[in-house]
Amino acid sequence: MTAPADTLAEISAGLRAPRAWVSPKYFYDSLGSRLFEAICELPEYYPTRTEASIVARHGAEMTKAMGPDCTLIDLGAGNCAKAAALFPLLHPARYVAIDISSDFLQASIAPLRQKFPGIDMTALAMDFSEQLVLPEQVPSARRLFFYPGSSIGNFTPAQAVGLLRRMRAQCDDDGAILIGIDLAKDSAVLDSAYDDELGVTAAFNLNLLRHLNRLIGANFNVRQWRHQGFYNAQEGRVEMHLEAREALQVAWQGGERSFAAGESIHTENSYKYTVPVFAGLLEQSGFSVATVWTDPRQWFAIIYARALRP
Ligand code: AVI
Repeated sequence: MTAPADTLAEISAGLRAPRAWVSPKYFYDSLGSRLFEAICELPEYYPTRTEASIVARHGAEMTKAMGPDCTLIDLGAGNCAKAAALFPLLHPARYVAIDISSDFLQASIAPLRQKFPGIDMTALAMDFSEQLVLPEQVPSARRLFFYPGSSIGNFTPAQAVGLLRRMRAQCDDDGAILIGIDLAKDSAVLDSAYDDELGVTAAFNLNLLRHLNRLIGANFNVRQWRHQGFYNAQEGRVEMHLEAREALQVAWQGGERSFAAGESIHTENSYKYTVPVFAGLLEQSGFSVATVWTDPRQWFAIIYARALRP
């Protein structure tokens, strides 16, 4: 597989930067998507389980807020399981599943079409972190953007506002958003959630190098790299890095770079918010918080926010 020119340019610029970085969107090749599913099963990785417990407890209220016959737009749909859990309560007229990993998405949506023949389903392979434009055949009325899993935390707050504004621009005044937010908490809980005992998160992080080898013809040797995942309290985010175990050289289509031992590539941020801070980002983006549901430990929140009239 070779990457389009803009993808190659973006990855090259990140790898050449004094503090090298690669966007976390490149985690999600087919194996990466499966490794992420495995992360969600880990005892240390609380977000998926906690979010599911909030949905199990308050799902009926969540879906009542929007009412039936909406168009449910699932951003970063992955295996589509979270949206599918809402179908029996929400009864959407349409389901639009959007994900960067096209093959994985097609495979996930196929059985849902069989199981819920009354819901019109569309699968869109799209990098919505760059732009979000829905096809004309998706009605603009009663769009409900569903962005679970605290994936918004993988953007900086400024980028998150950009993405939320793109969602606002894609819905009428009757639109809404149902979004999962990971809340600030004890750093030991966060450190182990992103550096688990079995090394599944390490495999997820390291797999990015194999993806880059295919995508931009790079020659990363995975064994020369080590996973790091830790909470950075000053920045209010978990950071993931890949650290060179030894001095090494990497080459890719049209570029090369040497890394000293201990030098790293920053691969992911995962911001942890308080509800008031995130509500502020929603307001800046043209949404107003209607309801917040959380768990007894206040580790995770699901927020329902309605579009504000401009
Ligand atoms: C997809 N995203 C919300 C996950 C997170 O927690 O930031 C990705 C992840 N990275 C390591 N573990 C999980």
